[in-house]
Amino acid sequence: MTQTCALVTGAARGIGLATTDLFLEKGWRVAMVDRDRPALLEAAATRDNVLAIARDVSNPQEVAAMAREALGWAGRIDALVNNAGVAEFGPIEHCDFETWRRVMATNLDGVFLCSQACTPALKETKGAIVNIASISGLRASTLRVAYGTSKAAVIQLTKQYAAELGEHGIRVNCVAPGPVRTKLAMAVHTPEIIQAYHEAIPLNRYGSERELAEVIVFLAGPQASYVTGQVLAADGGFDSTGVGLPALRAPAD
Ligand SMILES: NC(=O)c1ccc[n+]([C@@H]2O[C@H](COP(=O)([O-])OP(=O)(O)OC[C@H]3O[C@@H](n4cnc5c(N)ncnc54)[C@H](O)[C@@H]3O)[C@@H](O)[C@H]2O)c1
Repeated sequence: MTQTCALVTGAARGIGLATTDLFLEKGWRVAMVDRDRPALLEAAATRDNVLAIARDVSNPQEVAAMAREALGWAGRIDALVNNAGVAEFGPIEHCDFETWRRVMATNLDGVFLCSQACTPALKETKGAIVNIASISGLRASTLRVAYGTSKAAVIQLTKQYAAELGEHGIRVNCVAPGPVRTKLAMAVHTPEIIQAYHEAIPLNRYGSERELAEVIVFLAGPQASYVTGQVLAADGGFDSTGVGLPALRAPAD
C-alpha cells in the first residue's frame, strides 16, 4: 500500500509549515503548495517525503496543475488542508475593490478551487478536507470587512462540502485559529492589539503554530473518523467568551 499523502497549501511557513512537519512525524508524505517559490523551496529542501509545488491557489489553471502534480507524485491524496491565506486589514471606506478581490481570491476562491480539484482523488481514498478559517469568521470586528467575510464564507463552504461529500466518505471540517505569531499576524497586529488579545483570551496568550497543527492533523486523520461539518476554534477560549470586557476580569476582592 502506498504511503498516505496530505496536500497542504500555504506550506512554506507559519501554520502550514508546522502542519507539514506534524504530518511528516506521523509518517505521511506531504505535497507542499505555496506561491512564494523561494520560501517554499527553502522549506522543502530540508525535509524528506515532501514535494514542493509552487502554485497560486487563487488561479484555476494553477490549481488544476497542482492537483495533477501531487497525484503524479504520490498517486493518492488522503487529506487536503486549505491553509493558504492573506490578511489585509483597514476601515470599510478604505477597502477598495482590488483589496476585497485579493482577499477573496486567496481566502475563499482558493478553498473552493482546491477542494473541487482534489475531490475526485479524495473520493478514491475516502479522505478529508480541513479548511483554515479564523476567529474573525466567527465574530465580527473592526477593520476586517474583507478578511472576516472571507473566513465566515469558508465556514459555510465547509458545511456545504460536508453535506454533499459525506455520502462519498469524505469528511470536511474547519479550524478557526485565534492569534498566532506568524508573519501574517505580525504584519497586522500592533503591540496594542497583542496586549488587547492577551486580555480578551481566557488563556491570556497567543497560540503556537504547533498547537494549531495538532488540531488540523487530528481532524485530517482517522481519529476524527466520525467528525464532519464541524468548526473547531483553537483560540484559547476567545470565541466562547460572550462578554469579554477587561473590567469584568478584574478579581473582585
Ligand atoms: N496567524 C494568525 O494569527 C491566524 C489567525 C487566524 C487564522 N489564520 C489563518 O491561518 C492560515 C495560515 O496563516 P499563517 O498565519 O500561517 O500565515 P503566513 O503568512 O505565515 O503563511 C501563509 C502562507 O500562505 C501562502 N499563500 C498566500 N496566498 C497564497 C496563494 N494565493 N497561493 C498559494 N500560497 C499562498 C503565503 O506565501 C505563506 O507562505 C491563513 O489562512 C490565515 O488566515 C491565521
